Amino acid sequence: MLLLLLLLAVAIGGSHGQFPRVCMTKEALDSEICCPLWNGSECGVEAMRGVCLNWWTRTLDDNQYYDDRLNWPNSYFRSSCECLGNYGGFDCGKCKFGYYGENCDRQKTLVRHEIRELSTIERRRFFSYLTLAKYTISKDYVILVTGDRHHRSTYKFIDATIYDVFSWIHYYSMKPILMNSTFTSNTSYAHQGPAFPGWHRRLLLFLEREIQELIGDEDFALPYYDWSHENNTCSICNEEFLGSNDLQGNIGGSSYFSSWGAICSGYFYTDAYCRSAERGFHVENLLRKPGRDPKTRIPTYQDVEATLKWKMFDTEPFDKTSKSSFRNALEGYVNPVDGKTTDRNMHNMFHGYIGGTMSQVPISANDPMFILHHAYIDKLFEVWIRKNKATPDKYPNNQHLGHQRLECAMPFFPCVMNKHMLQNSAVYGYTFTYMDQYCRLYNQVAGGS
Ligand SMILES: *[C@@H]1O[C@H](CO)[C@@H](O)[C@H](O)[C@H]1NC(C)=O
Ligand SMILES: *[C@@H]1O[C@H](CO)[C@@H](O)[C@H](O)[C@H]1NC(C)=O
Ligand SMILES: *[C@@H]1O[C@H](CO)[C@@H](O)[C@H](O)[C@H]1NC(C)=O
Ligand SMILES: *[C@@H]1O[C@H](CO)[C@@H](O)[C@H](O)[C@H]1NC(C)=O
Repeated sequence: MLLLLLLLAVAIGGSHGQFPRVCMTKEALDSEICCPLWNGSECGVEAMRGVCLNWWTRTLDDNQYYDDRLNWPNSYFRSSCECLGNYGGFDCGKCKFGYYGENCDRQKTLVRHEIRELSTIERRRFFSYLTLAKYTISKDYVILVTGDRHHRSTYKFIDATIYDVFSWIHYYSMKPILMNSTFTSNTSYAHQGPAFPGWHRRLLLFLEREIQELIGDEDFALPYYDWSHENNTCSICNEEFLGSNDLQGNIGGSSYFSSWGAICSGYFYTDAYCRSAERGFHVENLLRKPGRDPKTRIPTYQDVEATLKWKMFDTEPFDKTSKSSFRNALEGYVNPVDGKTTDRNMHNMFHGYIGGTMSQVPISANDPMFILHHAYIDKLFEVWIRKNKATPDKYPNNQHLGHQRLECAMPFFPCVMNKHMLQNSAVYGYTFTYMDQYCRLYNQVAGGS
C-alpha cells in the first residue's frame, strides 16, 4: 500500500508545501520519515536531487502535550528531504522557486503587476485560475483538522482544494500555542514577530507555484494591489475586479467569488483545527464590507513612506510592542511616523478596512483580496530590502517560537529557515513593476483594455 502511494507520488511529482499527502499515511507517520521516493530513490538521491536528512532533534519528550507545530516539522518527522542544487519540493522532484525545467537549470524572474495594470483579459484569466484552484482537490497535500488539539489520536488529514490548502496554511499558523497542555497565548508563528514578512512571502510563493502547475504556465505571476493612493475608497471592490458587495457583505452574483465558501470559518475556539472542514462544508461564505467600520481606513502613501524610513528590520522585544521597527510598522501595530505609539495601521488596518472575512484574520486568506494585499506588503518589504541591502545575516536573534533565525518556517516542506526569506526577491524568481514607484497613482477606473 505504501509502495503504491509512493509510486503515485512519483507519478504526480511533489512541490513546495505542507502535509504532503504521501507522508501522511500511517506507515510514514509511524516511521517518522517523510522522504518520498523520486524516480525510485528517497528524495531522488540517485539522481543527486536530494538526501533524506535525519537532523531533527526532539527537545520535548512528551509530544502529546506540546504544540504540533513547534520545531517544525519535529513533532511529525525526524527525517525529511533536503534538496541539492536548484531542486526543490518535499521529494526534491521539483525545482526551487525561481528555477524551471526538468533539470531545474532555467532561471526566471517573473514580474508581478499591479492588478489595474492587467488587461481585462489578463484579469479575468487570473480570476478564473483562482476559481479553478478553489474547486480542484490538491493532489499533493492534505490538511489537518481536529476538534481537540490535546489529543493527537483525534488528528485527521483530509482532502482540500488547492486554494483551501493555501487558506488553511494561514489559519494553521495563527492558532494559539499549546505548551504542556495549556494554550499559552494568542501570539502566532507567522505574526507579531520578525518572521511576519518572510513567512507571508513564502505563503504567496506557494500559491503562485501551485497555480503555475495547475494551469501549466510557468510565467504566471500573482498581481498586487497598491492601495496607497486610494483615498479611502476600494476601487477594486466592484464587478470589474474583485466583486461588489451588498450590505450584509455578500459578494455580487456576477463575481467569480460570489459563491466562495470560507474554509475553517466558524468554530473559533482554541482547541479546534479547522473543525468545519471535517464536516465537509464551509460555515460562512466570503464576506466583504469595505469602509463600513468607521474605526478603519485605507493607509495612505504618507503611512507607506513613514514605514519605509525605519532602518532596523526589527527591534527588541521582537513582538507587537517593538519600537522603531520596520517590521512592526509594516505589520501595523505602531504608528509608522513615530514608530512607537500603539496604532492600528498599514497591514493590520487594511485587513480591518476590507472587513468581513478579511477582518477575521485567521480565515482572511479565504478572500483573494488577501493575495493582492499581501503581494503589495511584499513589494514594500522588497523595497525596504533593496534600500537597506538586507541579507539573511541581518535577521535578528530572538526567542519567539516560530520566529527564530534557524527555525524552519512552519508548515512548509522542505525546510526554509526564517532568515533566508530576508533577501532580494530575485533569489526566489520574481520582482514587481515600478519598484521605484511603490506609491503609484492608479486610475480609479479599470485599467487595461
Ligand atoms: C530514473 O532512473 C532510471 C533508472 O535508475 C535512470 O536510468 C534515469 O536516468 C533516471 N531518470 C532521471 C531523470 O534521473
Ligand atoms: C507540565 O505540567 C505539569 C503539571 O501541571 C508539571 O508537573 C510539569 O512540571 C510541567 N512540565 C513542564 C516542562 O513545564
Ligand atoms: C485568544 O483570544 C481569544 C479571543 O480574543 C480568547 O477568547 C482566548 O481566551 C485567547 N486565548 C488565550 C490562550 O489567550
Ligand atoms: C478624497 O476623498 C475626499 C472625500 O470623498 C474628497 O473630498 C477629496 O477631494 C479626495 N482627495 C483626492 C486627492 O482625491
